[in-house]
Amino acid sequence: MILGLEIYNNKAACGTCHTLKSAESSGDIGPNLDMLKLQIDQIIYAVTNGAGVMPPWEGILTPEEIEAVAYYVFTSTNK
Ligand code: HEC
Repeated sequence: MILGLEIYNNKAACGTCHTLKSAESSGDIGPNLDMLKLQIDQIIYAVTNGAGVMPPWEGILTPEEIEAVAYYVFTSTNK
């Protein structure tokens, strides 16, 4: 399994709050990531610092893991 998807599904469980088709998640607490089509730096910023009720992942995920999950979301949503 690719690292970013592994983090999305397990370590950070992004899918409990977000819908993302390629990860087959359907959470509806946060915005649907397929619709946002954010740039990579915006995703890294949101994951690092949090947004609204979304917790900041800095210190929970390593910088490499934040980059991996952000890259995964970016490539899954900007095709
Ligand atoms: C506890 C629920 C929750 C979890 C877990 C969560 N998010 Fe979020 N996320 C949200 C909410 C709510 C928002 C909207 C925040 C706002 O704008 O008020 C959000 C916003 C975002 C945004 C959009 C930021 C922007 O600039 O518009 C991205 C990208 C994102 N989340 C990615 C992720 C990723 C990747 C993970 C896993 C590492 C994750 N989220 C985990 C709830 C969550």
